[in-house]
Amino acid sequence: MKLIGPFKQLITLRNLPLRGKLSDNQLEIIENGGILIENDLVKKVGDFDVIASEAKASVEIIKIDGEQIALPSFVDSHTHILFGGNRSNDFAMRNAGKSYLQIAEQGGGIWSSVLHTREESKEELLEKLLKRIGFLLNLGISTIEIKSGYGLNVENELKMLRIIKEAQTKTPATLIPTCLAAHLKPKDFNGTNEDYLNYILKEILPKVKEGNLAKRVDIFIEKTVFQPEESRSFLLKAKEMGFEITVHADQFTSGSGRLAAEIGAKSADHLEATIDEDIDFIAKSETVATALPGASLGLGEKFTPARKLLDAGAILAIGSDWNPGSAPMGNLITQASILATFEKLTTAEVLAGITFRAAHALGLNKIGKLEDNYTANFVTFKTDNFQNILYNQGSLKMENLYINGNKI
Ligand code: NIG
Ligand code: FE
Repeated sequence: MKLIGPFKQLITLRNLPLRGKLSDNQLEIIENGGILIENDLVKKVGDFDVIASEAKASVEIIKIDGEQIALPSFVDSHTHILFGGNRSNDFAMRNAGKSYLQIAEQGGGIWSSVLHTREESKEELLEKLLKRIGFLLNLGISTIEIKSGYGLNVENELKMLRIIKEAQTKTPATLIPTCLAAHLKPKDFNGTNEDYLNYILKEILPKVKEGNLAKRVDIFIEKTVFQPEESRSFLLKAKEMGFEITVHADQFTSGSGRLAAEIGAKSADHLEATIDEDIDFIAKSETVATALPGASLGLGEKFTPARKLLDAGAILAIGSDWNPGSAPMGNLITQASILATFEKLTTAEVLAGITFRAAHALGLNKIGKLEDNYTANFVTFKTDNFQNILYNQGSLKMENLYINGNKI
């Protein structure tokens, strides 16, 4: 066992509920805090001196230097960080007046990333992926969801998921893979959308399962991509095969957020265009609503109505959506801080959204709080006040990251 501290402030998040709005006076702040760790789990949190005085001689006491605060490390529950190539020209074209969907229709967009990703070798892609994971670790993010979706055929979707599996052997971060073969019907597929979705069900998902490559399935439901009814039947079949469901929903047009909640998806992500009645419907469901401010910032579109969702009782998570097209920035802390200023989110709501609420969207229920028997994943900052993390909008760098009780 080891005891780490003393921390000027320990923000535990342990008493916060899974859903709904939060006020900052609900935050538990332990001054002079200590974290007692056994193997990879939190054994106890509390006053450092009290824990130290009760501790057996065998407990290793690790004193941290200078004034630091600690809180659960972050979870990014929605990324597309495995990709080849670059879409800076899409960004420039959008800023010169073309829309995201127009650029996609003209051969840019997701399809151009598919071509680049198919082209690059496994080694090249793995190296780029590990670099992006490193960037996220440096922000204090210890759990990262990663989607496929730039392969779009058996060979290349499996190639992507196998690279993610290999990356897991080379990083201390916890990686959660998701099969997003339904990102787009690829231009070289001969058949209708429905044919392509059936091809995913018959040819891709059984192999994903067999190779234990992902337990989650995602789809992009949107006007020029997959339609609600064909998507519903696809998702229900994927669910029957034992996959958890997540949906790219209501990014530009509404309707699919409600669909996601109706079929019991773990999360409905984006929701920038969700209409008021559907906000209410999603908020009362078990489906996590995931705001992706990085996509709003990358596209110059409105933000997910996070305030309304929380007020209506939703489980609100915040993800980066880091991808080469709509969300090239990748800095979840900057994005969450900016979302807070526009949507008027409390610090407690933002911290919950990038810790245990995001973990819940990934089906991880012992991650994201400093609480007994939770995984000992936490991040420290050299500052005397935790409010500085969001106040600095991402420019306050973390000091140390601990994953499974070990300093990274
Ligand atoms: O979440 N909306 C669909 N998928 C991604 C964008 C992927 C891309 O443009 O390459 C998103 O925004
Ligand atoms: Fe996305």
